[in-house]
Amino acid sequence: SFLPLQQPMDSIPAEIRCAQDYELLAQRFMAPASYAYVAGGSGRDATVEANRAAFDSWAVYPRLLRDVSGAHARVTIGGQELSHPIMLAPVAFQKLAHPRGELETARAAAALQTCMVSSTLASYTLEEIAAAGAFPRWFQLYFQPTREGTLDLLRRAEGAGYGAIMVTLDASIQVASLRALRANFQMPPDCIAANLRDHAAPEVKETVAGDSRIFQGVMRTAPTWRDLEWLMTQTALPIWVKGVLHPQDACALQSRGVAGIVVSNHGGRSLDGAPASLQVLPAIRAAVGEDFPLLFDSGIRSGLDIFKALALGANAVMIGRLQMYALSVAGALGVAHMIRLLQEELEVCMAQAGCVTVTEIDRATVAATAAAK
Ligand code: FNR
Repeated sequence: SFLPLQQPMDSIPAEIRCAQDYELLAQRFMAPASYAYVAGGSGRDATVEANRAAFDSWAVYPRLLRDVSGAHARVTIGGQELSHPIMLAPVAFQKLAHPRGELETARAAAALQTCMVSSTLASYTLEEIAAAGAFPRWFQLYFQPTREGTLDLLRRAEGAGYGAIMVTLDASIQVASLRALRANFQMPPDCIAANLRDHAAPEVKETVAGDSRIFQGVMRTAPTWRDLEWLMTQTALPIWVKGVLHPQDACALQSRGVAGIVVSNHGGRSLDGAPASLQVLPAIRAAVGEDFPLLFDSGIRSGLDIFKALALGANAVMIGRLQMYALSVAGALGVAHMIRLLQEELEVCMAQAGCVTVTEIDRATVAATAAAK
């Protein structure tokens, strides 16, 4: 940490041998406080750690003598054919990782035809991100304090050609990360929520445990089922809900007609102590049935992790932190390289497990290890 920070490179560093290597290398490219903000979860990181540990509870069976020539990782998500089941999760404030932030991520997404989900809290506007090429592109929506504010975002996303709305519902309260607090993280002045520039100043949402104003303060404007029902009447775009961990919530959302859900604990950045996403995935798949579209995120660092998430019921996965790390190291090139590495890692795993298509990656392809309860 005594070395000066490196500028983003315009080539792929030789040290990168697998997608997860970007996590280590990014420490040379991001200021320590920014790195702590990105890497940390909420509170004490209990859920961040649980997310990673959950992947160790599963192993993949190698299968013999199968003909996997002609195998591929293509999937169809929300009617859109994708060449692999890897999407870019909404990650706010990407200027923290690279001066051109989301514009670089959008270029990588376009080059590899990877679905990018742009955050409400992006540091460039949703129109700028669309113009940078992101396609297919979805928009991640946070309910705003007023319906007018929410509708502004919705109409702009429709106008800029976003193909779906992903509403994130697990972040009404933002609990600071102890790791970021201890590193004295402060959002740099150029990292603003560009989409909200013309909105009235929001109430401060950052809070820590022990704040007695929670119910009268932040939770007063938090969305409820009624707000979601209202939102669904306001657009013809498919609505996905992100942040689902309980099978009953999954079923309630399914019965209200959402297009699909994202099993996610926000990468451990919401309720510290929430279960690992991977832990609850099988129960949610069982609750919604075989055909309901399920995305998964939280803790993915390799193609092997992706394989396990697909085996336990996901149709595709989203990548959060790794995109910030790759962005900091080599901008669009880094993000594209990271996605390509994940795809290759997944394909190697599919070949060894004898799976010709992603639909063959089912529950029977994995075994619970001794670490599993
Ligand atoms: C996020 N995430 C997130 N989610 C969301 O719906 N809207 C947002 O604006 C953000 N912003 C954000 C910023 C940063 C720095 C991180 C690390 C994450 C959560 C993200 O979409 C995803 O759920 C997790 O990052 C997935 O976990 P991994 O892949 O980071 O382990």
